[in-house]
Amino acid sequence: MLVRLLYASRAVNPIDAHMLDEILDQSRAHNLEHGITGMLCAYVDGSSFLQVVEGGREEINRLYNNIVCDDRHTDVVLLDYGEISERRFANWRMGRIDLGRVNPSVLLRYSERPVLDPLTLTAKAAAALLEELADTLPGS
Ligand SMILES: Cc1cc2nc3c(=O)[nH]c(=O)nc-3n(C[C@H](O)[C@H](O)[C@H](O)COP(=O)(O)O)c2cc1C
Repeated sequence: MLVRLLYASRAVNPIDAHMLDEILDQSRAHNLEHGITGMLCAYVDGSSFLQVVEGGREEINRLYNNIVCDDRHTDVVLLDYGEISERRFANWRMGRIDLGRVNPSVLLRYSERPVLDPLTLTAKAAAALLEELADTLPGS
């Protein structure tokens, strides 16, 4: 059975390209092996993450427990969790989105300000934004 989980969190230190590379390297190997797909969004030099992960219920629950305990971030807010009939991010072992490079008009569709704060998004807005980004970007 497949589930999808969305969360937002605050980075403990400013997010830099090195930190993102490290997280993504770790994630892609693990996710491929465990059938997990999804996307990780962040502003380089910013302070928050928005991530969607989808896969088997047991795998996603185990990963989320790991993620919540990861000391690179804090204030992890679960935005949405539910069963799905099909994957929406099947092409992404873990896509990496630099929100600073996304057209501000796309972000403004879902956000009060042009600089988006993932922790203030509704589950619906977060899901719609991630789907739009997945539609416009190549897989990873
Ligand atoms: C923002 C963020 C996103 C992460 N996403 C993933 C992910 O998609 N897959 C993954 O395996 N680890 C991810 N991690 C790393 C996990 O928190 C954890 O370090 C990793 O699962 C290794 O755990 P282990 O050393 O207990 O095996 C992420 C960490 C952070 C801070």
